[in-house]
Amino acid sequence: MIEKLKANALSLLLGGMVILAAAIMISRSGGGGGDGGDNTVDVNVPNFSVVGLEGEALFNTSCAVCHGPNAGGSDRAPPLVHTIYNPGHHADEAFFRAVLNGVRAHHWRYGNMPRLDVPREDITKIIAYVRELQQANGIATRPHNM
Ligand code: HEC
Repeated sequence: MIEKLKANALSLLLGGMVILAAAIMISRSGGGGGDGGDNTVDVNVPNFSVVGLEGEALFNTSCAVCHGPNAGGSDRAPPLVHTIYNPGHHADEAFFRAVLNGVRAHHWRYGNMPRLDVPREDITKIIAYVRELQQANGIATRPHNM
């Protein structure tokens, strides 16, 4: 009788630990995708150059739906105003490649970025816009060392 009670208590304890571990894993995965939860950033918005303003309009048409207003991120894609996208780690060429070929999820857990039908000259303006945002938020060129 006592042995049976002990066994029951033990299996309750083990069951509780399994549930706890599952709960921790679910809360770590952050629900809405992303790398451990909410990666959106508060963006300091500068006075844009003429090209930057054109880029802003293009960005809002083609990119903001995922990368969020002011490239601050959303639950669909990371902020581009983020130090890993500084020009030393993601040079302008990485932006052309991302838009023209799409991106396989690798830095984050949002999923893949589809290739988009945006002309090169428009991408150039979007890059100018993103770089101006990055600069206004203290994101400087850092050499690639990852
Ligand atoms: C349908 C959603 C979606 C749209 C629209 C979108 N992106 Fe993305 N983008 C993503 C996701 C998701 C990632 C992150 C992939 C990863 O690294 O895990 C990403 C990553 C990137 C990267 C990083 C590429 C790299 O080499 O790591 C750049 C640059 C980028 N996007 C630029 C743009 C630009 C510019 C536009 C608009 C022309 C745009 N994206 C529109 C979803 C989107």
